Amino acid sequence: MKGIILAGGTGSRLWPITKTVTKQLLPVYDKPMIYYPLSVLMLAGIQEALIISDPKNLPLIQNLLGSGTHWGLRLSYAIQEKPEGLAQALTIGEHFIGNDDVCLILGDNILYMSGLISILNEAIKDANEGFASIFGYKVKQPRDFGIIEFDDKKNVLSLEEKPSEPKSNYAAIGLYFYDKTVVEKAKQITPSKRGELEITSLNQLYLEEKKLKCHLLGRGAVWFDTGTFQSLSKAGNFIELIEETHGIKIGCCEEIAYNMGFIDRTQLEKLAENLSKSPYGAYLKNILDES
Ligand code: TTP
Repeated sequence: MKGIILAGGTGSRLWPITKTVTKQLLPVYDKPMIYYPLSVLMLAGIQEALIISDPKNLPLIQNLLGSGTHWGLRLSYAIQEKPEGLAQALTIGEHFIGNDDVCLILGDNILYMSGLISILNEAIKDANEGFASIFGYKVKQPRDFGIIEFDDKKNVLSLEEKPSEPKSNYAAIGLYFYDKTVVEKAKQITPSKRGELEITSLNQLYLEEKKLKCHLLGRGAVWFDTGTFQSLSKAGNFIELIEETHGIKIGCCEEIAYNMGFIDRTQLEKLAENLSKSPYGAYLKNILDES
């Protein structure tokens, strides 16, 4: 299983903040936003990932994350010339994906819940058996999201992008797992009325083949799509609250790399040393002291 982070877009709802820098590099409390989706891939055990962004911002992201070897990862980079839709990530990533299954995560999605690793592992297993997976999260304003309709057994009946009359309150979050047929399917999609290659259209193809699974995230799950002023601010406040109350970090790629066995103690020591002037570095040092 490989991973793709889609980290471009216009970010127009965050103007003027995103006039000169992509939102995925903005801070969400104590770390750049892109650490959060990358940490989800890492928790899924994925070490090989492609990061896609626009021509102006890709070098900035590359400057931040580099080759990924310091976190035991193999990162590569690709340009999306124009923000022509989420499903384009799969065709841009065609050669990277090759004959593998792939997990796509949006660069502005933050997910925090207990049991995350087991739900990710389930989706990996499903992809291996030819299924795609989406994740449903109950939202208050369904008109703003891709919405999932269910029958009474919670089987997916339909998918609709930003419907004017939503058939449920369950939004599909920006995390998708696909089997190896995904590139061929993504190539079949044509632009929607708003001119985008919609991820909903791609998921619809899996639904038509009865190959779409939906994992519902329960009450304990917290998900932010940090595309608006309010959600960006709420996400930062939430991360601060959890981190400062419990003394643990959310989306700390260095810690996850160590816990997943991607890097060893000496490598973590080096990472902590490089950040020694910030409390983030002190946190990493503390992990070493406690382990
Ligand atoms: P959106 O929030 O749908 O779009 P946006 O980021 O351009 O924001 P706005 O609506 O405020 O203009 O995108 C979701 C995520 O996907 C986000 O991380 C940006 C990314 N994205 C791309 O990288 N390429 C694309 O073609 C699109 C549509 C989004």
